[in-house]
Amino acid sequence: MSREIKTILVLGSGGTMGNGIVHVAAVAGYQVRGYDVKQEFVDRGIATIRKNLERGLKRETITPEEIDLTMARISGFTDLKEAAQGVDFVIEAVFENIELKINLFQELDEVLGDDVIIASNTSTISISLLGGGSNRGDRFIGMHFFNPPPMMKLIEVIVGLQTSDETLSITKEISEKMGKEVIVAKDSPGFIVNRILLPLLNEAVFALQDGVGTVEDIDKGIKLGLGHPMGPFTLLDLIGLDTALHVSEAFYKAFQDSKYRVPHLLRNMVHAGKLGRKSGEGFYKY
Ligand SMILES: NC(=O)c1ccc[n+]([C@@H]2O[C@H](COP(=O)([O-])OP(=O)(O)OC[C@H]3O[C@@H](n4cnc5c(N)ncnc54)[C@H](O)[C@@H]3O)[C@@H](O)[C@H]2O)c1
Repeated sequence: MSREIKTILVLGSGGTMGNGIVHVAAVAGYQVRGYDVKQEFVDRGIATIRKNLERGLKRETITPEEIDLTMARISGFTDLKEAAQGVDFVIEAVFENIELKINLFQELDEVLGDDVIIASNTSTISISLLGGGSNRGDRFIGMHFFNPPPMMKLIEVIVGLQTSDETLSITKEISEKMGKEVIVAKDSPGFIVNRILLPLLNEAVFALQDGVGTVEDIDKGIKLGLGHPMGPFTLLDLIGLDTALHVSEAFYKAFQDSKYRVPHLLRNMVHAGKLGRKSGEGFYKY
């Protein structure tokens, strides 16, 4: 690696993915600066990290001293210029919105050192598109964590058309220092994992719609027959049916391929407000 990465800035640190990314970076020994739009969001992220670290006390996988040391590496900001001071690497995990992300990258470009790399945790947006909007396409890359980041072993690294080899090798090194396994994907809708997952989830809904099996039996079939840790309906309820619908529609538009078509049942359930765990009911009741 050409230079040492010591300090990482995480954008959207109060969010689901943001707080998890701050968590894994701090455990890996990085100084981590969390940035979000409101102090209460920054504080919420930091409180979640402490709570999640403390779960390890019972299992004796962490000591109180290690928790204090990890927490001492984390600081929080609501001012972007202040947050960007002395930063070597940026991971962005704000809302999945192209304009919002690009505006943030442009604002950041003004205050960030020239050699600093920005990695986006986007699930669906093109890395070449975001890189183009960042004014530093060669130092821009996708770093797709899985939910929840402290538990999930994988980081999918996505190389945009402009991403340099040095950016890729630094990003891989950081991912490995975080204790993760890396796969490298070309910049194509859904990258590797979601491109393959979504047709499977949608096919489960088609099978239910066609009356082939019950929710429970389809879940059981995929769990026990294929060795998946959870069935497609359990996973859909966890992801959120609205999110699954949004991603499926984006894939259908991008690939123009009927294998990404959306089952009516999924659309109707979203219209009916049955979004999964977050609304109290999806394919199961919570
Ligand atoms: N949730 C998942 O399972 C998952 C998995 C992989 C990738 N992703 C991706 O991660 C990103 C974040 O998703 P999430 O589910 O954590 O969202 P979230 O809504 O939980 O969190 C987003 C955070 O970004 C903050 N934010 C919004 N605008 C901001 C701005 N201008 N500056 C700083 N912070 C801002 C919000 O206040 C919030 O705290 C998205 O790009 C999403 O596609 C999500």
